[in-house]
Amino acid sequence: MRADFDALAAIGATPAGGVSRPTFGDAHLAARAWFLERARAYGLATRVDAAGNHSAILTAGGPTLLLGSHLDSVPDGGRFDGALGVVAALHVLVALRGSELRCALEAIDFTDEEGTLVGLLGSEALAGTLRPGSLAAPRGGRERLLDGLARAGLREERLPEARRDPASLAGYLELHVEQGPRLARDGLQIGVVTGIVGARSFSLDFRGEAGHGGTTPMDARRDAGLAAAAFAVAANELVLRDFPDCVATVGDLRLEPGAFNVVPGAARLSLEFRSADSALLDALESALSDRALVEADRHGVTVEIEPVGRWEPTELDHDLQAAVERAASALGLRSRRLPSGAGHDAQALAAVTRSAMIFVPSDGGVSHDTREHTSWEACVAGANVLLGTALELAR
Ligand code: GLV
Ligand code: MN
Ligand code: MN
Repeated sequence: MRADFDALAAIGATPAGGVSRPTFGDAHLAARAWFLERARAYGLATRVDAAGNHSAILTAGGPTLLLGSHLDSVPDGGRFDGALGVVAALHVLVALRGSELRCALEAIDFTDEEGTLVGLLGSEALAGTLRPGSLAAPRGGRERLLDGLARAGLREERLPEARRDPASLAGYLELHVEQGPRLARDGLQIGVVTGIVGARSFSLDFRGEAGHGGTTPMDARRDAGLAAAAFAVAANELVLRDFPDCVATVGDLRLEPGAFNVVPGAARLSLEFRSADSALLDALESALSDRALVEADRHGVTVEIEPVGRWEPTELDHDLQAAVERAASALGLRSRRLPSGAGHDAQALAAVTRSAMIFVPSDGGVSHDTREHTSWEACVAGANVLLGTALELAR
């Protein structure tokens, strides 16, 4: 497993020790090809579905127990996010070759978990919950989505064919790094995930008037960049003050035309916010859009707010949480239950089959950054809990 994990981390490796494998980029496609090749080398069957989900399969009668995560990454991401879950899933199958099982086991790498294009694209297609709106106005833009699908040899109109009959599924298990500081801080080895926060994302388009940066008087500007920046600051203050159980991120901000000596005529920013409580998400959405209008008005510009992603808070299966706890305790590992602030394919799968997640500690809680790190001992502990839980379900 270590050799495979290291070989995978070399695909799309960044000089700082992380990986950059945005969906359908060369490194991502290479990682997926590598995954199928390793599966074949271990004597497993393979499959690629209509949404591009890549699978290694240990065939048996009965329904399929899915074990998965994703091989795509955020730009300049870490080598553990997603990759650990896929490599561990593959090795659970390898370990169980030749065992008597009552269900098939499938290690699956879901397409576009991170949202380079849509977010949870492959897992929602498999669950049958992918909404046409998500494809019509995707986070990464329509052009990038179509271009990416073409690069991967996929067809938009065929994505729904990836849907699986829930009766064909025995459940879903996902091992993942925690991506937060709690397990490491409390000296625990395993996290049993209770649920996953909901998230909403929007593109905000501020439009003002470009002008000469030397001659346009300060009080005669309609600076779209300034309005966007003021909104980003105000959004942060608003969440800190009025929504302590939520988080909001402006992760991208582009100014046009983008030059030292031109007042920005347009500014586009990405806004994403999350909470475990849908009512809070509703309230925050309305507070943030009011705020965007106020800042636009204050700076004499207009703003258009376009929804580009929406994921409801998800509760994970109670029986499976108990099964994960049993597997951890049988291995003498200390665990606790905790919610996830990051999004995962498990939230899509939970809509159609009983689903669970196993977390292992992230050093310093760092993720979505090249500094992301989990000790190898912790990764192995997590993989063994995945194996133990899968065995209980498959026997
Ligand atoms: C995925 O990692 C997300 O939480 O955005
Ligand atoms: Mn992930
Ligand atoms: Mn991630």
